[in-house]
Amino acid sequence: MNISTQNNQVHYLKRSGYEYLWKVTVDQSDSLIAGSFLGHEILRLRCIRDVSTSEDRYQLADGGEGTLPYHSWMVAHGDEQWSTTLSEAEMLKRLEPYLQTILFTPTQIQLHLSLEEQARIYGFGERTGGLNKRGEAFPIWNIDFPGHHDEGVTSMYTSIPFFTLHHVATGQASGVFIDYTGQINADLGVSEPGIATLTAEANELPIYFFTGPTPADVLRQYTELTGRMPLPARWTLGYHQCRWSYASAELASSIADQLRERKHPADAIWLDIDYMDGYRNFTWHPERFPDPVALTKKLHEQHFHVVTILDPGTKVDEEYSIYREGLANDYFCRYPNGELFVGSVWPGNSAFPDFSQAAVRAWWGKNYKALLDAGVDAIWNDMDEPALTNSLLNTDEDEPSLWGKTMDASVVHQAGGAHATGPDGPTVSHRDFHNAYGMELARTTYEGLRSLRPDSRPFVLTRSGTGGMQRYAALWTGDNTSKWSHIRLAVRMCLSIGVSGQAFVGSDIGGFHDDSNGELLTRFSQLGALMPFSRNHSSKETVSQEPWAFGEPYESAIRKAIETRYQLLPHLYTLFQQATIDGSPIMRPLYYHYPQDEQAANVETQFLIGETLLSAPISEAGATSREVYLPEGEWFDYWDGTPYSGLATHEVPAPLERWPFFVRANSIIPTGPVLQYTDQPHQEPLTFTCYLTKDGLASYTLYEDDGQTQAYRQGAFATTTLSCQTTGETVTVQLEEQHKGYKPSYAFYTIIVHIGDRTLQGQIQTGQGATTIKLS
Ligand code: GLC
Repeated sequence: MNISTQNNQVHYLKRSGYEYLWKVTVDQSDSLIAGSFLGHEILRLRCIRDVSTSEDRYQLADGGEGTLPYHSWMVAHGDEQWSTTLSEAEMLKRLEPYLQTILFTPTQIQLHLSLEEQARIYGFGERTGGLNKRGEAFPIWNIDFPGHHDEGVTSMYTSIPFFTLHHVATGQASGVFIDYTGQINADLGVSEPGIATLTAEANELPIYFFTGPTPADVLRQYTELTGRMPLPARWTLGYHQCRWSYASAELASSIADQLRERKHPADAIWLDIDYMDGYRNFTWHPERFPDPVALTKKLHEQHFHVVTILDPGTKVDEEYSIYREGLANDYFCRYPNGELFVGSVWPGNSAFPDFSQAAVRAWWGKNYKALLDAGVDAIWNDMDEPALTNSLLNTDEDEPSLWGKTMDASVVHQAGGAHATGPDGPTVSHRDFHNAYGMELARTTYEGLRSLRPDSRPFVLTRSGTGGMQRYAALWTGDNTSKWSHIRLAVRMCLSIGVSGQAFVGSDIGGFHDDSNGELLTRFSQLGALMPFSRNHSSKETVSQEPWAFGEPYESAIRKAIETRYQLLPHLYTLFQQATIDGSPIMRPLYYHYPQDEQAANVETQFLIGETLLSAPISEAGATSREVYLPEGEWFDYWDGTPYSGLATHEVPAPLERWPFFVRANSIIPTGPVLQYTDQPHQEPLTFTCYLTKDGLASYTLYEDDGQTQAYRQGAFATTTLSCQTTGETVTVQLEEQHKGYKPSYAFYTIIVHIGDRTLQGQIQTGQGATTIKLS
């Protein structure tokens, strides 16, 4: 980690618990820095501005299990999980260089990092610009951007104050996370080309530094601190069909019928705001959805899951029980003078639950019972920045639009209130809590669903969030537009979000705003086939964009793309499981695995899925081929096995029904049959395709479980490890099954081996434990 020298006077005071205290004098006032090592790879500086030596400002939490010496919404674990064997002298030696990165001003705390010429900056969550954020300046502040977002929009629905500094020359990476949910301003070499400055108008700023040294290590360290995604139910990895709105039970049901009749694999039908009665949460529209139980039963029989939207804004309406209950219990956010905060959303004037309080989260969480009882399977949280709008109600042209507006900064979040050192921490103003609002709604939903159905794996999709949101929800990138540049934008945004710790991410397939068309929808679906979250969604007043909407040849091409996803489900599910262990993204930028490849670092229109698949979606109208950069090694065309050499750029054919898609040599990819829904029972063997170089060696461990329950946490899963080696003309395939807690259903594995342009094939019976076969 490089540092810049600042002017503050720093004096070591003493050790306090496992923290080391320095006094920092600026002008006449004193501030404190409490430094500590968390394990061997994470270092923390808690910067406390303007204290007059009294120490109680940094001893907030109650010191019990799971607590930090301060309150955090984003950090997942208490300090007790870390231990370090470093001596005091060693700690001080390692901490001291970091002290100079901190600057206290009369109103701010700043972090200054000097940037080597080659250093690149990745992360910060959802952002529209290039992958490398160096040379950009933006506020870290969640907003529903007023207008159709495009390049150059500085803030969006989700921001994550975490980034990786990456040096291509050495391939080394390190990371920084600022634990503050109010606004932070990032200036990444704009005011001074060699300096990144992050500024917060805060009295306390905990900053974490991750030592790397690889991009994957940084992400592992960051997610060790802020938590990891729990394993999602397998169906959530399927294809999802949505629209604003399938506004009647008949329409939703007919969309489901057509998906099945036309054989488009799909796992979920989504209901947008019009299923509700006057946009009141937890209600159904009495005429358009007269019998929700009958609708969900019918959709379940067709093997669809049903997801409903739910926004935090609660209609101000004395006749509405949720509003009355919230008011009676004082669960809604208020101004400091006690006045209720009322903002307009879809239902008009609305109150906002204060999700900083455990009691409010428990209340809101229980209310989901009404939806689950009606047969709903999962929840989509939206407008949770929180966003205000008067767009549906505004008939007066002179009335200013509320788009882009949020809760007033002075609004109070009670949090722990009188129990300020407890798990919710002290009362805070919206100014300091803002970026946590969406995440705390997602947490409320996740925890509510989990306690209502303890053995299930809740699925929550959110639009807004911040660091740590991966513990509760998947994220989609909000209201994109049906245009070609938004395929490129989706790639960059999903990659940035993935390297910010949020692995489960996707963009609206086909584009949300404006009319899509057959070719655009096809190419979007080909990107969507490999996005971690794969949902087609579009806005009101746009043309329909279900897979069949534009007829042939598009419908067949879209079907093929989604079928490809379903065939790859065994691999995708294994990647999701890996993310729950080490925080790695599903969709990865090339630099992640090729950190010293300058050319790979500049690639922003291709991505890796895991370590071994590389996709290069088409994002130009009329294109029938595109240039693809393949990094080091040899590569095979996924579609026909053609070998390609790495460290080279190739012009690759891309007729409408396929896109450039590659597998790295010396790797193994498991695939299943084309399914119509993820949990469809089948007798087909599982196929392991081995892509080998001459004298190559590859191995792979497949992860499987029941795909639905929490039993995997008690060991109910299966792992199958395959390795494949060529010696001369012979290929030796070794297979080892650990099928203790869970037994996969198939009777055979098909083994396909590609070596150069030769293909060999064999079969192995399952359930034998360890097996070796030779193919020649
Ligand atoms: C917001 C969401 C969008 C949704 C619409 C209506 O614009 O981003 O996905 O369809 O609200 O609920």
